[in-house]
Amino acid sequence: MHAGETAVSRDPLASAQQRASSSGPTERIRHLREEIARHDTLYFVKAAPEISDAHYDELKRELSRLEQTHPEAVRSAAPLREIGDDRSPGFTRYQHAEPMLSLAKSYTEAELRAFVARVRKRFEKPEPRFIIEPKFDGVAISVTYEQGKLIRAVTRGDGRVGDDVTANVLAIRNLPHRLRAISARGAINPLPDLIELRGEILISNAEFQRINREQEATGEPPYAHPRNLAAGTLKQHDAHAIAARGLEVVFHGWGAVVPAQALPGTHSEFHELVRAWGLPAVQGVKRMGYADVWTAIKAVGENRAGLEFPIDGAVVKLNTVAQQRELGASDSAPHWAMAYKFAPERVETTLRGITFQVGRTGVLTPVAEFMPVRLAGSTITRASLYNGDEIMRQDLRIGDTVILEKAGEIIPAIVGVDLTRRTATSAPFVFPAACPKCGAQIGTAEGGGYQLRCPNRECAAQVQRRLEHFASKGAMNIPGLGPATIETLVTKGWVKEIPDLYRLERGQLMTLGRSVSPSTDRLLASIEASKRADLWRVIHGLGIPRVGPSSAEALARHFGTLCALANALPDSLEKERSTLKALIGEASTDAMIAHLSAPKNRAMIEQLVSLGVDPAH
Ligand code: IVH
Repeated sequence: MHAGETAVSRDPLASAQQRASSSGPTERIRHLREEIARHDTLYFVKAAPEISDAHYDELKRELSRLEQTHPEAVRSAAPLREIGDDRSPGFTRYQHAEPMLSLAKSYTEAELRAFVARVRKRFEKPEPRFIIEPKFDGVAISVTYEQGKLIRAVTRGDGRVGDDVTANVLAIRNLPHRLRAISARGAINPLPDLIELRGEILISNAEFQRINREQEATGEPPYAHPRNLAAGTLKQHDAHAIAARGLEVVFHGWGAVVPAQALPGTHSEFHELVRAWGLPAVQGVKRMGYADVWTAIKAVGENRAGLEFPIDGAVVKLNTVAQQRELGASDSAPHWAMAYKFAPERVETTLRGITFQVGRTGVLTPVAEFMPVRLAGSTITRASLYNGDEIMRQDLRIGDTVILEKAGEIIPAIVGVDLTRRTATSAPFVFPAACPKCGAQIGTAEGGGYQLRCPNRECAAQVQRRLEHFASKGAMNIPGLGPATIETLVTKGWVKEIPDLYRLERGQLMTLGRSVSPSTDRLLASIEASKRADLWRVIHGLGIPRVGPSSAEALARHFGTLCALANALPDSLEKERSTLKALIGEASTDAMIAHLSAPKNRAMIEQLVSLGVDPAH
């Protein structure tokens, strides 16, 4: 049978549902509510969801079905908050002037058509007009402008009170801090006294892929989903990380507006006004009568692969603002809009094995290896499993038939196991006891559980990853020193730490024969030239935890020379803690002081200085 046809009946949830239904609806309702609340916390607060959106939506739908069919059971189970809560510790809270609502969601043509029909019935003449927008898969944000000046940015929170993330949002490159009162063509755009603009913070597909290529180049695990990366980045206490990661924003609506007349009469004109103010507005908004709504929604789905930003559906909105007001809203969502969520494409394949990649810091990332299979436009052979907990949570076994889905249409992920096809001889996965590269006994990484780590700093894989990072384009940019050459140098035992690169000798390299000799002089010349690289590149290349390129730039300005950094003793760094915090944020400061307090790390910088590394500054 074809994989796609069986996805529903073989859904891993189906067996969970069967298991649970025997324990009675009250129990199941309670269980679902707890699960949904747990997944809300993982998604909104920790920005690290454990299940796909489709799986989550399925849990919510099962709950809503049970609540409708068993009203008696609803009363005895604890209630569920309608909107998740994205608030995190360490942020000042701020109350929205108008609450931030969610959207009602539909999953079938019939549900969507029922919404359109309801609206039509209410406004028979003149016929209501609708607009269709993409449903951006990002982090909801409310940005307040007063007299045209950006004064505050707040996350959705519980819908009423959110986290004030103004400092971070100000670092978003495509977000003007002032609204443009006069457009390029000389037209005047009236500025309201106050407007809460509602939108989405996003990472473009291209930027997401760039960041993951960088992660991969340095042996770090890839990020699973652009939305999670955007959420995690937004909640860092480090505005530099935001600028480095290229977050963007797009506005699709509004909350409070003073005076109310500052708003145009239709939603589509609102988008034009947003654009005239110089803000990033929704592109390609379509306006239409009821008859074309479904076709337009399908078209958004068909074109989604070519879009700049990740989307997970389309939104249909009633276009006339006065009609929107007439329909009003429930506690959680407006009655004038409806989201249609696209079903992600799924395929089945066989899990052939699980291998482990060793990162620069020794973290072991499990990678699932599959029988090659086509999914959403590409052939998939492997998928990161992020950490060992994922293997245990899904009880993945070699030989299993697994269901794959692409998160945000980009990264393939295992969303379930087809248990009906598990063989009698299958056995739970056995984690390696030793590092696959150096054989060292494996320890547990920060975070516990099945997050494994090779403790041997001299492990060839770790050394290789550290050197790859140092030589990479984003750091020292040493042409000719790619992964293959580094592997040779490490395997020969000539390079064990970064300073060894500057100890390489021509005679030594010439013994490698044909594979390296033609480029030996060029390689030596580019290593020599790297001694004059910009200081921030050296600092970034050292691989100090939590110190990315923009923090490295700030540190380079602060210390001025590599020598000054080498001489920065732990005591003096402690004294400078508050200055450093202002420069690179608290988390990066802590990580940097801890790193530079370790004698081995300081010795490495001293060696670089004595080997003649004297960066430009
Ligand atoms: S309208 C009061 N339009 O999806 C109306 N929301 O799942 C609510 N979203 O809370 C917002 N793209 O954060 C609207 N084109 C779009 C959207 C959009 C993404 C988000 C928004 C909303 C969530 C609901």
